[in-house]
Amino acid sequence: MDVEAVLQEVLPRIRPTDEERAFVEGLMRELEGTAEETVESLGLDVRPYFVGSLAKNTYLAGDHDIDLFLAFPLDTPRDELREEGLRLGKTIAERLDSYEIAYAEHPYVRARYRGVSVDLVPCYDVESWRDVKTAVDRSILHNRWVLKNLEGRNDEVRLLKRFLKGINAYGSEIYVRGFSGYLAEILVIKYGSFLDVLKNADFMLRQKIIDPGNWLKQEYEVAMRTVRREAEADRPLIVIDPVDPRRNVAANLGWERYGVFYFKAHQFLENPSEAFFFPRGQKSGSYLSELRRKGTHLVTLVFGTPDLVEDILLPQLERSARGFEKVLSREGFKVLGWNVGHEGSKAFIMLEVDRRERERVMIKPGPEFFTERGRDFYLKNERVWLRGRRLYAEKRVKENIVDVILELLEKNQVAMGKNLRGAIRNAEILLDYVPNELEKEAYLFLSREKWNLKQQ
Ligand code: UTP
Ligand code: MN
Repeated sequence: MDVEAVLQEVLPRIRPTDEERAFVEGLMRELEGTAEETVESLGLDVRPYFVGSLAKNTYLAGDHDIDLFLAFPLDTPRDELREEGLRLGKTIAERLDSYEIAYAEHPYVRARYRGVSVDLVPCYDVESWRDVKTAVDRSILHNRWVLKNLEGRNDEVRLLKRFLKGINAYGSEIYVRGFSGYLAEILVIKYGSFLDVLKNADFMLRQKIIDPGNWLKQEYEVAMRTVRREAEADRPLIVIDPVDPRRNVAANLGWERYGVFYFKAHQFLENPSEAFFFPRGQKSGSYLSELRRKGTHLVTLVFGTPDLVEDILLPQLERSARGFEKVLSREGFKVLGWNVGHEGSKAFIMLEVDRRERERVMIKPGPEFFTERGRDFYLKNERVWLRGRRLYAEKRVKENIVDVILELLEKNQVAMGKNLRGAIRNAEILLDYVPNELEKEAYLFLSREKWNLKQQ
């Protein structure tokens, strides 16, 4: 299939229908009314703004979370914004279906209304970057900038977002480190279309700095500080926020997700197919055959998923896996790779290792023979010898990797995510075996299909 045909197949699946748009727009008008009435009844001076992909009309069909920002005057003290903002959010949410409090820099209300999630976020009513006081304040400016510059290329953004989702590179959350929706919008605005963004994937890498707001002309010092800071931090891409020269829009984009995009963009242009946007289920196979093929072994720690948000849970699982990697290699096991995640109520850490057993002895270097401690060493050990002036002895050690891990955990010698310590200490440790619900995951990990750049 040629590229155009593929895009024509994909578009109807990602573009909201007229009904969906009417439903969403109806909800927005209704919410706006509710917000305005509530603001008035509480005697506040607050302006409601819709932001995010809904307000920009760059949302994907079926994916419509509403962001309603409640903008307070700039001279509102911070703690007043915090309290009044939360109170206002709750009062609005009382008139919706249900709600809970969520936490970011300031607490906000996450409500549900007619099956749609509605965030009610207090912020400052900023006019320019110089007014920005909290992390969410820029969204209003982003919205304005995108609306002004997108010029009808909304579907191009939808294609790019769906492509990024399909290749698993969408989302600026710290456990994804991919492209944010706003970054996708900027790239389409800069390069003109979905295909042009793909064609420029490697050019982007060489050019590095994208400055759609022309800050390097207007605010040279501030913009250069951003460029230097972000270059120092080794970001794959520096996109100076057109609404704020102090910020790199791609600050959360990591090399890995960028690299996936880089490869997939080439592959798509060479051999376009719908599968990039809507991947067919990853191929499956037997993890046991993988272990036989590779001659390696799999250690899996399984424990109850701690009640933590994804932003905290995943980085801590990764930190713990790295902790095991480090300490096991010190103990004489080679760790070829690791994989973490959670599946329902079970969280897991998988470690691929070179062997299940190590030598029963380790050579223990001791002190110099003519010292006090040398004498102790000589007396305490059974088999003792000299190499130069230093004493050496044999030390019997646990040989099975599961026993080694148990001992390390008991002695608290593994660096772990701090909220996982308890759970991991009580983990089940499985060797060359995983429960049913992890079989597919184990296969994808051991075969590296999970990350294979060449898979279609
Ligand atoms: P969202 O993550 O909801 O993005 O952030 P979005 O543009 O609405 O896209 P989708 O369709 O839901 O995935 C809402 C707003 O928060 C700001 C942007 O202004 C964005 O429009 N934001 C969010 C950023 O500037 N950077 C981020 O990394 C995340
Ligand atoms: Mn959104």
